[in-house]
Amino acid sequence: MTTAKSAYWQKIVDQAKDKDGNQRPFFSMAPMEAVTDTIFRRVVAQAGGPDVYYTEFTNAASMVHPEAKFSVQGRLAVAPGEQMPIAQIWGSKPEAIAGAAKVLPGLGYEAVDLNMGCPDGTVVKNDAGSDLIRHPDRAAALIAAAKESGLPVSVKTRLGFYKTDEYHDWLEMLFNQDIQVLTIHLRTRKEMSKVDAHFELIDDIVAMRDRLAPDTLLQINGDIKDYEHGLQLAKDHPGVDGIMIGRGVLNNPYAFESEVVDHTLAESISLLELQLDLFDEVNQTANKKNFEALKRYFKIYLRGFSHAAKLRQLLMETHTTAEVRALLEEHVGDLLAVK
Ligand SMILES: Cc1cc2nc3c(=O)[nH]c(=O)nc-3n(C[C@H](O)[C@H](O)[C@H](O)COP(=O)(O)O)c2cc1C
Repeated sequence: MTTAKSAYWQKIVDQAKDKDGNQRPFFSMAPMEAVTDTIFRRVVAQAGGPDVYYTEFTNAASMVHPEAKFSVQGRLAVAPGEQMPIAQIWGSKPEAIAGAAKVLPGLGYEAVDLNMGCPDGTVVKNDAGSDLIRHPDRAAALIAAAKESGLPVSVKTRLGFYKTDEYHDWLEMLFNQDIQVLTIHLRTRKEMSKVDAHFELIDDIVAMRDRLAPDTLLQINGDIKDYEHGLQLAKDHPGVDGIMIGRGVLNNPYAFESEVVDHTLAESISLLELQLDLFDEVNQTANKKNFEALKRYFKIYLRGFSHAAKLRQLLMETHTTAEVRALLEEHVGDLLAVK
């Protein structure tokens, strides 16, 4: 099936060049619920971000429901000047997906991604996320519905629901839907994140794409640590167009940097300070954030030095960004001295 590449994706591909001007795969930060909001995306951008960002997944039904609309606004909030992410939405009803996708251009979004891989029990019970792997007809209807928005449509999914073998039929169906990008998290729903990603299947999936939908971009995901690792995988598996990294960024906020640099603790602390500032900024808008949710980030920035655990423990007892700043102020001299 011939897919006309959208101008949006063509630009991303064209701009993905290494420092010598050679073509390289595009890199993206994976959509992560309660993580990849406007705050964290901007912190990662400061640390040397990817080519493409995704929002947290957002419930299409809520986006079109008059009373629920406000509950999802924070997930789709984008700061002025911030690089526009791709909106990831999830749902099971074509009307909701079509309605939600049509809302997106008005918010400034230029592309939409459909979640067809979420393993979460509640999402699966709602006939969405990875449940769509068991219901390919419904999945196809959702893709068609998203296209009504006129936005370029991509899909993020897993290999199968129960067994890796399911990818033969499931991905064949998806490659026949004329989508812009297929992002494959190289595990089944059943495997959750408990086994290693199936890198051994990449070449076969590339061959399927080449045969069925040569113009659909193929992005791989799962266990990819950083830029260098992604580049190596793309080299080992020619035909891979994109590399998506999720938890790698939670281990190393500099995961997308094209040159490995030994970052100082002072630099890491300044990323945390940026996160605190952006948290305060967002909390002055209607999209209030929960302070407790900020705590999961402390370990990203404060690790790998003596006393890190002790300081993190103290930070876990804070209730405001002011308290966090005060603790950093109190300890930072000692921290920098011991490093
Ligand atoms: C905290 C967390 C939240 C996630 N939320 C989403 C989500 O909203 N949408 C989605 O498609 N995948 C979500 N995922 C899955 C990731 O996008 C990614 O597919 C998975 O973590 C494997 O990639 P990795 O090994 O690079 O992390 C989430 C993963 C984590 C760890």
